[in-house]
Amino acid sequence: MSDELVRRARAVMENAYAPYSNFHVGAAIEADDGTIHVGCNVENASYGLTICAERMAVGAAVAAGKRHLVRIAVASGVEPPATPCGACRQLLAEFGLDLEIITAGPSSRRRWRLRDLLPEAFTREALA
Ligand code: THU
Repeated sequence: MSDELVRRARAVMENAYAPYSNFHVGAAIEADDGTIHVGCNVENASYGLTICAERMAVGAAVAAGKRHLVRIAVASGVEPPATPCGACRQLLAEFGLDLEIITAGPSSRRRWRLRDLLPEAFTREALA
């Protein structure tokens, strides 16, 4: 399944709108029912409004009614493969620290659990 997820992340990377950085990223999230939801980065002339591929993919999953997210593949054109930024790690944490994260560059992959990329995470439990 992770091959398919990486394939989908690489495919949507082609649609990235990144005229400022020219750094194209694609993300594909798998929900617990096997459905896949994709996103790419979308930049803006104001720079700060840029949305990362991972957050776009989370939005697509949630908009499709999926909140039980199992794994995400993030594709970029660099080696070692780009890892999700801090803001994206925090957004992903909302849906569970067990999430598997696969990053893929042109020639290698890496794999983590979100809890290892975001130690001592701030989550809803802290709000109790
Ligand atoms: N970017 C992502 O989409 N995901 C990441 O994990 C890292 C960074 C985007 C944001 C911006 O459009 C470009 O890559 C350069 O930072």
